[in-house]
Amino acid sequence: MKSSEHQFRIAEPKIIRNLITNYPVAISFNLKHISEHEELANTSREGQGSYWITTFGCQMNKADSERMAGILESIGYKVARSEFEADLVVYNTCTIRDNAEQKVYSYLGRQTLRKRNNADIILVVAGCVAQQEGASLLRRVPELDLVMGPQHVNQLGYLLTQVRTGQQVIATEDNHIFEDITIARRESTICGWVNAIYGCNERCTYCVVPSVRGKEQSRLPESIRMEVEVLASRGFREITLLGQNIDAYGRDLPGIQKSGRRQHTLTDLLTFIHDIQSIERIRFATSHPRYFTERLIDVCADLPKVCEHFHIPFQSGDDEILKSMGRGYDVDRYRKIIDCIRLRMPHASITGDAIVGFPGETTIQYENTLRLVEEIGFDQVNTAAYSPRPNTPAANWSNQVDEEIKVRRLKRLNALVEQKALERNKRYLGRIEEILVEDVNPKNPCQLMGRTRTNRLTFCPQVDSHGNCHKVGELLMVRIDEVRAFSLSATLL
Ligand code: SAH
Ligand code: SF4
Ligand code: F3S
Repeated sequence: MKSSEHQFRIAEPKIIRNLITNYPVAISFNLKHISEHEELANTSREGQGSYWITTFGCQMNKADSERMAGILESIGYKVARSEFEADLVVYNTCTIRDNAEQKVYSYLGRQTLRKRNNADIILVVAGCVAQQEGASLLRRVPELDLVMGPQHVNQLGYLLTQVRTGQQVIATEDNHIFEDITIARRESTICGWVNAIYGCNERCTYCVVPSVRGKEQSRLPESIRMEVEVLASRGFREITLLGQNIDAYGRDLPGIQKSGRRQHTLTDLLTFIHDIQSIERIRFATSHPRYFTERLIDVCADLPKVCEHFHIPFQSGDDEILKSMGRGYDVDRYRKIIDCIRLRMPHASITGDAIVGFPGETTIQYENTLRLVEEIGFDQVNTAAYSPRPNTPAANWSNQVDEEIKVRRLKRLNALVEQKALERNKRYLGRIEEILVEDVNPKNPCQLMGRTRTNRLTFCPQVDSHGNCHKVGELLMVRIDEVRAFSLSATLL
């Protein structure tokens, strides 16, 4: 940013001068709008300077960051060489556990030092910490220019116009997420995230997500299809439909069929986008065991592009703990889902999430989690020690588990998860698999890296035995000849 473009100075102590609550227009997403928007963007580039976005947290945040990068580039920003050279810095934050939240404060410390020497730098905190902390974040870090929750991502351009008038801006009001005409600047050119449903209506007693991501808002199937078509036309070959609770997709959309069945479900959506040419693989995440249906499994088995991988967090292997977590299913239901998947798709990989040290968790209850991990044989499990979060019921319970015990339990669970993952990966040895090449191995430029349909990371040589050099975006048939717990190596066929 050129300093002459800036009108304001940072005064101490800084006060909150404006609260943005309303946006002027709702815009619908269609191809015509995209091309108009591109023209608009091309004629209104302001040569803004450089930007940097650091993303913490889940795929939802990654998708949001890509859209924010798209917005910044459409108004003339270019990506900076490093976060310490950028004129505008965005931290897109996560608050799922306390250690995730604390990270942003240490990152911000470095930027506030920079800002004291150069008031023109624009500092933005976006994402879930921004939503959780709101104005108190501005009080804690007065150098911030913009604090914006996840529901305001599409409005970044507008919010920056407010910042440029010298205001400190907070955008954390509940907001209907308008369809977006921005073209996300995506990190991958092959695999794209596509939001299907925002927010979460569940009330898991440990989880901060509903309070920071708001109520469920499903996008219309037509908008999702349009976005996937645009991705296909740009050479993308794989898409992942995203939602905190993807199998809740559509329940907030109007329309009930004569049969009494909802008109918009995840299965309908998968069928609706399945014929889009040149998209070869369709994935979705995250599935909630409470809403996971047999019909969904049937549809996944029948639709050839839907990949054989299911991420279904179980959180605990103990019924009592599941009950106090408010999860709405028991271990038996979870087992039945997995059995049903394995019956229809024996080759499918199953991954999940688990929490240890939830308030009141006894040794026996913890061991039930170990037993479930042993029994199911997960391909991977994301594990975490329970972390009390603001505005969640479990944080106030008196039966918290000792930190030391949590750490011990986590370590033992992780060792079991790794052992099981390796055992599961052994089934790939000697097998022929299709991989979609996503990148060159950053640690070995002679190797390509991609994923099997079951989402196993796989490395293979770039050049085949005929001397042909393969590229990112290709679907290759390979033979797996080496397995590790979390990746595979293969030879080209
Ligand atoms: N919607 C998904 C999970 C989203 S949050 C689901 O319901 O399964 C991602 C993961 O973070 C959760 O699956 C859980 O394992 C973990 N998590 C959430 N809150 C947590 C907390 N307070 N402490 C530790 N882990 C937590
Ligand atoms: Fe959190 Fe539960 Fe919603 Fe998942 S379903 S995001 S764990 S409240
Ligand atoms: Fe974190 Fe927010 Fe995702 S809290 S896990 S970034 S929804």
